[in-house]
Amino acid sequence: MTRTVYNTATTLDGFIATSDHSLDWLLSRQIDQNGPMNHADFEKRVGAIVMGSSTYRWVREHEPESWAYSMPAWVLTHRQDLEPHPGADIRITAADTPEALTALHTEMVAAAGGRDVWVVGGGDLAGQFADAGLLDEVVVSIAPVTIGAGAPLLPRHVELVRTEWAVNGEFVCVRYDVVKA
Ligand SMILES: NC(=O)c1ccc[n+]([C@@H]2O[C@H](COP(=O)([O-])OP(=O)(O)OC[C@H]3O[C@@H](n4cnc5c(N)ncnc54)[C@H](OP(=O)(O)O)[C@@H]3O)[C@@H](O)[C@H]2O)c1
Repeated sequence: MTRTVYNTATTLDGFIATSDHSLDWLLSRQIDQNGPMNHADFEKRVGAIVMGSSTYRWVREHEPESWAYSMPAWVLTHRQDLEPHPGADIRITAADTPEALTALHTEMVAAAGGRDVWVVGGGDLAGQFADAGLLDEVVVSIAPVTIGAGAPLLPRHVELVRTEWAVNGEFVCVRYDVVKA
């Protein structure tokens, strides 16, 4: 059964990027790619992904020659100037009401073919899925750093139940189920 999972790295004080979208606090850290709760194992269970426009622009700017994901991807934006990476299955659209997000989610679940839907980020987008009752899990890899300000992890009140945790390299990784009303 498809689960909709927000999986991200975060600072200890709950930011997923600096205010100017830097991930320098993250990219230099040591992690065992084959270790517990590693990302490769997570991605094997993913059949569709969704991200906001800032995240998409970060990926395009930092990896201009390639697109790392083979599964269908949705990029949410109101902008008209975003282009899909050539050859990649990327659908650029807006879904700014709970009804539109629910319809989009139905499409993503169908495309995922029984695998999970990964909400890549940002935090408010994950919050929109939570608001609509569509978010099942939150998985965080917590880096040993605080940055004081930036793009928030999940700017909502969401009740969670811890289901798994592990130490991997410099990170503490935690999986939570979302408590639904
Ligand atoms: N630490 C990590 O592992 C990790 C993971 C993911 C992301 N990140 C980073 O975190 C930062 C996140 O940036 P962010 O907080 O700005 O979030 P974002 O979700 O990447 O981008 C937000 C923008 O997406 C568009 N959007 C969001 N929801 C929408 C909807 N329902 N319908 C239509 N458009 C929608 C809006 O912009 P427009 O309409 O103007 O396009 C919105 O301002 C980025 O720097 C990213 O690289 C880090």
